[in-house]
Amino acid sequence: MLGKAPGLGADMVFLDLEDSVSPLEKDNARENIVRAINGNDWGEAVLCVRVNAWDTEWTYRDVIHIVEQSSERLDELMLPKVQTAGEVQALDLLLTQIEKTTGRQSRVGIEAQIETARGLINVEEICAASDRLETIIFGPADFAASTEMPVLTGGVAIPEYPGDHFHYVFSKILMAGRANGLQVIDGPFLKIKELDALREYSMRTRILGYDGKWALHPDQVRVINEVFTPTQEQFDRAVDILDAYEKATMEDRRGAVMFGDEMIDEASRKMATKFLVRGERAGMSRSAS
Ligand code: GLV
Ligand code: MG
Repeated sequence: MLGKAPGLGADMVFLDLEDSVSPLEKDNARENIVRAINGNDWGEAVLCVRVNAWDTEWTYRDVIHIVEQSSERLDELMLPKVQTAGEVQALDLLLTQIEKTTGRQSRVGIEAQIETARGLINVEEICAASDRLETIIFGPADFAASTEMPVLTGGVAIPEYPGDHFHYVFSKILMAGRANGLQVIDGPFLKIKELDALREYSMRTRILGYDGKWALHPDQVRVINEVFTPTQEQFDRAVDILDAYEKATMEDRRGAVMFGDEMIDEASRKMATKFLVRGERAGMSRSAS
């Protein structure tokens, strides 16, 4: 799995020390991860390690071992089950000391998972806790356990519920993340073989404004990339809006003009720019007309 991960087409890869690792294997897992970080070619992917949460006995050794032994290719650590801003600050302080001791040139970034009721209550302070923080992530499986939701599968739709049982959670995390300039990421969908259901469920956070979603299996990567990349039609329309707005403001000296049967103005330019940037990052260009 560690060998295959770089070639799967994900923008970011995280290597886990937390809940997918048996308590009896935590030491071995650290060694495996360091070997993989230093030995594999990770291409362009952002490379991250998820350490154990501060309420275990493993976190400090995870952080010290991984960051001291890994090359500068390691970009970030992910901190799970974050409940307070202090937990992010504690990790920031520890990283600062390790960087000083080892003479590391690049700073290690932090990704924080919100997956408990207390974490959600404190998400605004958590998102503002450290300038190392790059990303805030929703963890639906632990969150369901924390709130005592009667579900046995993480991160999937609940047809019996008249609406979206996570709508409030998705929105609250998104606002806190955006207010602090963070990337906002949706967590796992555990029914690995149900790709149509994954596509449908991923659209919820995509439509709200999330930047991406976890994949647990190579087949999920393709679906998630598709959902979180603009369609060619959206991309072309965004480019057309930007062209029309540029002409209106810079040649015709007008701020609001008609674009087909709708009005566009400066806010339209901002919306269209989001599609342009996302599409270009995914390698898109305007279709030949
Ligand atoms: C992810 O860590 C989750 O608990 O959903
Ligand atoms: Mg979790």
